[in-house]
Amino acid sequence: MASTPETVVSVNSLWKVYGDNPDFALSDEYVNTSKSDLQNNIGLVLALKDVSLEIYRGETFVVMGLSGSGKSTLVRCLNGLIDPTSGEIDILGRNLSDISDNELTQLRRSSIAMVFQHYALFPHLSVMENTAWGLEIQGVRRRDRNQRAQEKLNLVGLQGWEDSYPVELSGGMMQRVGLARALTLEPEILLMDEPFSGLDPLIRREMQDELLGLKESLRSEQNPTTIVFITHDLDEALKLGDRIAIMNGGEVVQLDTPDQIVLNPANEYVASFTEGVQSQTVLTAGDMAVSYGGTARPGNSPEEVLQVALANNCCSNVQITDDAQRFKGVVTVDIAIKALEAGAASVEEYVASPTTFNVGDTYNDVLPSVLAHPSCLPVVGENGELVGVIDSTSLASTWDPDASETPYELDPIVREGIEQILGKRSDGTES
Ligand SMILES: Nc1ncnc2c1ncn2[C@@H]1O[C@H](COP(=O)(O)OP(=O)(O)OP(=O)(O)O)[C@@H](O)[C@H]1O
Ligand SMILES: [Mg+2]
Repeated sequence: MASTPETVVSVNSLWKVYGDNPDFALSDEYVNTSKSDLQNNIGLVLALKDVSLEIYRGETFVVMGLSGSGKSTLVRCLNGLIDPTSGEIDILGRNLSDISDNELTQLRRSSIAMVFQHYALFPHLSVMENTAWGLEIQGVRRRDRNQRAQEKLNLVGLQGWEDSYPVELSGGMMQRVGLARALTLEPEILLMDEPFSGLDPLIRREMQDELLGLKESLRSEQNPTTIVFITHDLDEALKLGDRIAIMNGGEVVQLDTPDQIVLNPANEYVASFTEGVQSQTVLTAGDMAVSYGGTARPGNSPEEVLQVALANNCCSNVQITDDAQRFKGVVTVDIAIKALEAGAASVEEYVASPTTFNVGDTYNDVLPSVLAHPSCLPVVGENGELVGVIDSTSLASTWDPDASETPYELDPIVREGIEQILGKRSDGTES
């Protein structure tokens, strides 16, 4: 995503209360009353309570919460299917309370598509006709609409099924038609309300993977599609979401990135979801990297490199960077000693390229290499900068708070060896 995100949806202090005289719920007397008390005492159902959030262009924004927490109400407010009791919604630069019914219909037909859990295909229409249906009601000519529908059917893997009827399809395939139908509108915003809940686990995973692939292809376009995805499944939320809003009793109780939701749940409600989650699935190399003290330059002498190793008490790799801290490689202590013995003026020719990790690599990407290397391995950022290092100790400390935070220490025997060599040289003794 771009570094300054563009807001496409802005929700400001949104309330939705069901029942007679819903405004009572916002009055001074009841504004702090819990959802259940409100319902028991004055018969009002609190569906949304003071929800404020922003959704950025191109992101997948997941709304998660238990049944009845207000997810569907929120998403239906976004496309004007439900009128809020109070609050403001700006969507694609339009304030929903200001626009006419006609404009709203237009917006829903062209810019904001929705995929429901029950995909509601027309049984008398073929897959192609179902997919192109949204364009048909916009008055798009048959050839054009079929061409666009065909592209989207290919995208969701339904090539060859164009002439079939819904009754001939499995649940997963019908859901794909629902998705293709929404995508055919080429919406700026795609709202998806538990689209995969009705599918069995295997097909569900397949659909999730498909959506991830789709997201990548939609993201590369000039105006990447923004997806608002509702689920009550944490694994699905973590897998698909760039950010996740967790709802409880009509309130957003945490809005964060997936890793923060798992690593720093805001309260017990969120923690009750995340308890069972293996942090391994969301931790990235960036999260696991520990900072690395000093680095050396390619132009440094072998002595200087060994001094850096001693000063940092670091692992037996000295990280080599340029002046802008961009990662250039490593010089191991034994190689630095070899360079010293060879009388090299600098370590430039001794810099090796080790296994490196990118900040976004997952725990599972990182683990095999860390286990295979006794030393610490560098983590490199988007611009090639050295972010930190990972070794098995730092890996363990990311989920065991009692584990030591310091990375692999220089083996005392190696330390003594370096000190001796450097000491001898400064004494003028031959090594
Ligand atoms: N038309 C309605 N009239 C009265 N109460 C409603 C209405 N629609 C929703 N509610 C109530 O509003 C609250 C939020 O409902 P909503 O459908 O948004 O929850 P949800 O998080 O989508 O739940 P689920 O996971 O079951 O779909 C619930 O308490 C629900 O009973
Ligand atoms: Mg719902």
